[in-house]
Amino acid sequence: MEAKELFRLASEARRNAYTPYSKFRVGAALLTKSGRIFTGCNIENATYGATCCAERVAIFKAISEGETAFEAIAVQGDNSGPTFPCGICRQVMSEFSQSMEVILESNENDIEIYTLEDLLPYGFKLSGE
Ligand code: THU
Repeated sequence: MEAKELFRLASEARRNAYTPYSKFRVGAALLTKSGRIFTGCNIENATYGATCCAERVAIFKAISEGETAFEAIAVQGDNSGPTFPCGICRQVMSEFSQSMEVILESNENDIEIYTLEDLLPYGFKLSGE
């Protein structure tokens, strides 16, 4: 799966975002090591703290289907240029795949690729894990 194709699926998933409060839509597409794809969009709630980010929706869908090893995640938000995953989503990603790629829109209307290690150095771990 090409990075650009995964990014296109993230853009498509963004269309389903439920964002009556922020009006900021985000889509994500997650590629597992086994080659499956799970998409997600942000889902807001009148109790704002119950909102779930697009990345975590995609990741939790995958985990609930038995997939826990991830190759890459593409994310597109309403920003012009990259929409970087929030800290909570980075921490959730790091629970499963420290070296996964994070594919974002670039300022030049193209894509740019990071690794999770770039985005979350020194992430939290329980000692002994
Ligand atoms: N959001 C995401 O979906 N992913 C992120 O990584 C950051 C923020 C959503 C949550 C909320 O619905 C909206 O963007 C504004 O914060």
